[in-house]
Amino acid sequence: MENKAIVLSGIRPTGNLHLGNYFGAVKNFVKLQDEFTCYFFIADYHMLTTHPKPENLQGNVRQVIIEYLAAGLDPEKATIYLQSDVPETTELYLFLNMNAYKGELERVTTFKEKARKQPDNINAGLLTYPTLMAADILIHKSHLVPVGKDQEQHLEMTRTFARRFNRMYKVDYFPIPRAFNFDDELVKIPGLDGSGKMGKSEGEGNAIFLGEDPKTIHKKVMRAVTDSGPTEKNQEKSEPIQNLFTLMGVVSDPETVQYFDDQYNNCTIRYGDLKKQLAEDIIKFTEPFRERIKELAADKAYIDKVIEMGAEKARASAVPTVRGVREIIGFRKIY
Ligand code: TRP
Repeated sequence: MENKAIVLSGIRPTGNLHLGNYFGAVKNFVKLQDEFTCYFFIADYHMLTTHPKPENLQGNVRQVIIEYLAAGLDPEKATIYLQSDVPETTELYLFLNMNAYKGELERVTTFKEKARKQPDNINAGLLTYPTLMAADILIHKSHLVPVGKDQEQHLEMTRTFARRFNRMYKVDYFPIPRAFNFDDELVKIPGLDGSGKMGKSEGEGNAIFLGEDPKTIHKKVMRAVTDSGPTEKNQEKSEPIQNLFTLMGVVSDPETVQYFDDQYNNCTIRYGDLKKQLAEDIIKFTEPFRERIKELAADKAYIDKVIEMGAEKARASAVPTVRGVREIIGFRKIY
């Protein structure tokens, strides 16, 4: 019998995958699916906290699935599903909410931030976002959760809720999940605006998407922020220039990077040439993704099948967990 650790991660369906998402997370998901029993899901219940229109919900979700598949997630290896296809999650969420306290939920940083950003919509779903996330994780009795720094506090709450449940009912039912933190070993992908990391909220032109057309890539890279050029040999690079070199480091040959680095160091570099090469190499790097996204987007039946298969596999794992919880709490067996 297989006894691999269970890895789970949730994906917020907020638009297209960019190089930052790819190198920061997705590339690792692709590796994890070979080693562990993996669950990756689109957190569409969570999206309701911001009250999306029904017509905007499913389109985004499908596009996210398409792009993750194009990036290498394999529905035969990992269970890829929609959170809303596993309604058992909401039952577990209800149970966990009974032992989640207003005080601890109000202290969560992301809640405080959201409450500040949307003061007219501080709904209970927003407050209990961490309990729903705990339900996502515990429903598969997950061991490892790959998360970025911004999600660590949520995961800590999941650990608290799991321990609390185990203690309250004197059981050893839920494994206490751990963060699978690969933040430190990863290259942080900078954006093109000269500072900080790549992100879509940083403004138009900062991020390059996996499915982006070559012309736009070229245009965005040529417009990237630079400086006025080195004036002394072996001068330290300014942030915008270092950023272009970092990007080159992930998409270009080492010799190419060395070539431009030497030119920078002896002050003969022309940023136009550097950018042209970078654009070309990004276009080359993204080509297979671009093509795969197109293919998958045209194959509605296949995407439907992937979603259907994911739902089935995810529920096959979720149902026994909730059945066990119902029994522990003292409810009748209904499924
Ligand atoms: N909160 C996560 C984010 O904003 C998404 C998410 C929902 C998640 N449920 C999860 C991540 C469970 C890991 C595990 O990115």
